[in-house]
Amino acid sequence: MPRIAVRGAGKRYGELQVFRGLDLSVGQREIVALVGPSGCGKTTFLRCLDGLIPMSEGEIVVDGKPINGPLPRTAMVFQHFGLLPWKTVRGNVAYGLDLAGASKAEIRERVPHFIQLVGLAGFEDAYPYQLSGGMQQRCGLARALAVEPDLLLMDEPFASVDAQTREILQFELLRIWRMRPTSMIFVTHSIEEAVLMGDRVIVLKGRPSGVAEIVEVDLPRPRTRATLASPRFAQLREHVWNILMDEARRAEFELER
Ligand SMILES: Nc1ncnc2c1ncn2[C@@H]1O[C@H](COP(=O)(O)OP(=O)(O)OP(=O)(O)O)[C@@H](O)[C@H]1O
Ligand SMILES: [Mg+2]
Repeated sequence: MPRIAVRGAGKRYGELQVFRGLDLSVGQREIVALVGPSGCGKTTFLRCLDGLIPMSEGEIVVDGKPINGPLPRTAMVFQHFGLLPWKTVRGNVAYGLDLAGASKAEIRERVPHFIQLVGLAGFEDAYPYQLSGGMQQRCGLARALAVEPDLLLMDEPFASVDAQTREILQFELLRIWRMRPTSMIFVTHSIEEAVLMGDRVIVLKGRPSGVAEIVEVDLPRPRTRATLASPRFAQLREHVWNILMDEARRAEFELER
């Protein structure tokens, strides 16, 4: 049984039907990568799951039970870091725990641990403007991980950092995830990143969006830099690329009509 199943999810903003009839499941220790054209509703979908905005239709089932309202023990990492600029690294990580209802003692104990885990030890008192993009995203990661979520929602977490930092952060996230594997939905524009991170890649199509295809990623874990060079990795990457291209051509064709 999947840990989380979303059935017939739909979201409308007035006249705009962002997505419709979206079915998706995430296993207990599964990373599901989500790719799709810009504007197809990936961020909107994650915000619905996080309980930040309501879905227009559909249901969310957690461990077999339908859920009304926000999913429990869920944390989100945002593309543009989403840090509070007036709080330090320590303050930002503590804030996430505070929101999740952690006690003062828990906060005191966990904050240094998670700052250390993401490699930010020594920067506890720095403000976001004093950090590089990669370091800000490490802080966002620490804030999300510190609540020990059962579901991690990642919205293009590494899109705003340079290519080398991105690769470093991908493998760091996989390392941290192995220590405490949890359900994760990982939205990305990078096909490579989707195949590297995901147990499955769910390819979405354009508006109104739905699932175009689900690709099983049968690459062994732990995944390393060697994974990126394997022939199977290249095959899967090409496959996902072809689905996205077919969808893009279809969308163009429909525009011309
Ligand atoms: N609060 C809002 N009110 C009205 N329309 C919105 C709102 N938020 C998003 N939209 C619209 O919903 C659609 C989907 O937006 P969303 O940000 O979810 O796309 P996305 O797939 O995350 O795109 P990207 O890949 O560029 O991040 C867009 O057309 C956007 O204009
Ligand atoms: Mg988005």
